Amino acid sequence: MSDIKSIIDDIKNRVDIIDIISEYINVEQRGESFKALCPFHNEKTPSFHISTQKQIYKCFGCGEGGDAISFIMKMENMEFLEAVKFLANKYGIEFNSNMSEKNKKILEKTKKYIDINTESARFYFKNLFSIRNNAYEYLRKRGLDDKTIKKFGLGYSFDSFNSLKNFLISKGYDISELIECGLISKKEEKTYDKFRNRIMFPIFDYRGNVIGFGGRVLDNSNPKYLNSPESIVFNKSENLYGINFCKKEIKNKTVILVEGYMDLISLFQYGIKNVLASLGTSLTKGQAQLIRRYADTVIISYDKDDAGIKATLRAIDILINFGINVRVLDLESSKDPDEFIRKYGVLEFNKKIKESSHYIKYKIDLLYKKYNILNDDEKIKFLGEAISLIKTLKNHIEIDFYSNYLSKISKTNIESIKMEIYNYNKNIQNNPNKNYKINKTNKEKFEKIKITKKIVFVEENLIKIILENTNHRNLILSQIQEKDLLLYESKEILKYIIKNKELDKITIDKLKSLNIHEEYISDLEKIIINDIDNLDTNYIRDVINNTKKNTINQKINNYQKELSINENKKEVHEKVMQIVTEIRNLKKELESLNK
Ligand code: UTP
Ligand code: MN
Repeated sequence: MSDIKSIIDDIKNRVDIIDIISEYINVEQRGESFKALCPFHNEKTPSFHISTQKQIYKCFGCGEGGDAISFIMKMENMEFLEAVKFLANKYGIEFNSNMSEKNKKILEKTKKYIDINTESARFYFKNLFSIRNNAYEYLRKRGLDDKTIKKFGLGYSFDSFNSLKNFLISKGYDISELIECGLISKKEEKTYDKFRNRIMFPIFDYRGNVIGFGGRVLDNSNPKYLNSPESIVFNKSENLYGINFCKKEIKNKTVILVEGYMDLISLFQYGIKNVLASLGTSLTKGQAQLIRRYADTVIISYDKDDAGIKATLRAIDILINFGINVRVLDLESSKDPDEFIRKYGVLEFNKKIKESSHYIKYKIDLLYKKYNILNDDEKIKFLGEAISLIKTLKNHIEIDFYSNYLSKISKTNIESIKMEIYNYNKNIQNNPNKNYKINKTNKEKFEKIKITKKIVFVEENLIKIILENTNHRNLILSQIQEKDLLLYESKEILKYIIKNKELDKITIDKLKSLNIHEEYISDLEKIIINDIDNLDTNYIRDVINNTKKNTINQKINNYQKELSINENKKEVHEKVMQIVTEIRNLKKELESLNK
């Protein structure tokens, strides 16, 4: 590891930050500099700047900034060394020259097996277009156009026992390697193509390497799909179909999880691209971890049948254990997302996404269907189970919300439901061990939430605009109040500016009488806004909104901290409810800013 510094230098010398960033987002050139919509926060006008000269990026909307390595760390959710390795690997820079012989062999074998799979994918793809065949007709009948077929590299395995085998052998590969990759089968010393007369779906890893295949029959025969076996390159439980395409398309840190190849490809063709497919097997921890790299919210859209419901429930449990927000989509009478979107179109699908349920609501609704609540006994059972579900929630606003929902659908008094839930809290209090644990994790969580440099930057950037430009100042003053700001310094400056509105550009010198911390002053001096007179009003709105959002989030955190201190004390029930209401109002405010 001694030469890590030289590897980093090597990366920085050889790699242009523009190339790296433009693999993830659309970048627009403006003269010497580059601009883009920031991938780290939601915005409508680009405030994400990239400097090729300095090889750094900076977002003037949310404050995120850094170099190529930190960009990869954020985008791929990697640790520092992991990101260095990722870039080194991508740009052919040797990461560790003293790699052991054993590791070198593994690396070589991995490369070779990826080559074999890639060659095979090209072969199948060519087959699909070379002569008239049923596979192509079939795909067209299922609504896929040529562009989509190409994008996903779909192919066709001829109805032959040796066409792929001959092709790969002619390329110089050993039969034993082909068997290990699962492309060739062996029975009683006879070897033959495993996939015959099937539509071929190449499976990619997150870097876009072909690591395996799924092959679908062209009719209703069984088995419907044959899949490549696990191999040195194909680790099923750690991979998700579509990850290579999806990772560039994730917005709002949300992905849609579907079951099958066809679901994903179909949604993609209709423009819904933040999709991953678990390929009909139950979701694993490794896959949840992979998702968490890129997203914090998953909308499950599995098939409507019993197997699909079971798989949904399993996926919910795994995902929430990884701290991922889970929602579930209701496709009504359609059996899967592919059928739905082809029948009703993308607008309806987007509507369904908007209407998707929090997983607790989904579970309550399933229970509701299971019981006949007109029967008293069943209704009580239903309420008991639904209340246990709500009790698993840690967030008081959610508890409040789903208690209300339960009260409404079961026509049961909300107070009785709440009492059951608070009863549970009393039980926790009676168990000192458990109580301690809860307080401890809360405490740790809240200590982590600090006012970061990023948040400070957003606010300082806003203040700088107010100081420098009178037009923008008027716009901002009409929308910002003292309460929207976080820092004492910013509030003081705002008050000063309101009192001295008639001033033209206000220099930083003038602020020195205001008892502003020197670090704040030095930050203000460092912020240089190019072409400030021509800033887009949308950009200004973004800056205003982000400032407000940061402040609201901070307030929510403070309230939640207070809540965690008080939630187990009986005597402050009133206060807890008050805080819950405050938080709820703030969240509403936040939501309206996010629109
Ligand atoms: P589905 O039966 O829902 O298939 O299985 P699908 O993808 O929607 O395909 P179409 O619409 O019938 O063409 C979901 C996933 O389960 C895996 C496949 O990965 C499939 O995409 N599966 C299914 C198998 O591995 N083997 C099978 O025999 C069936
Ligand atoms: Mn299907």
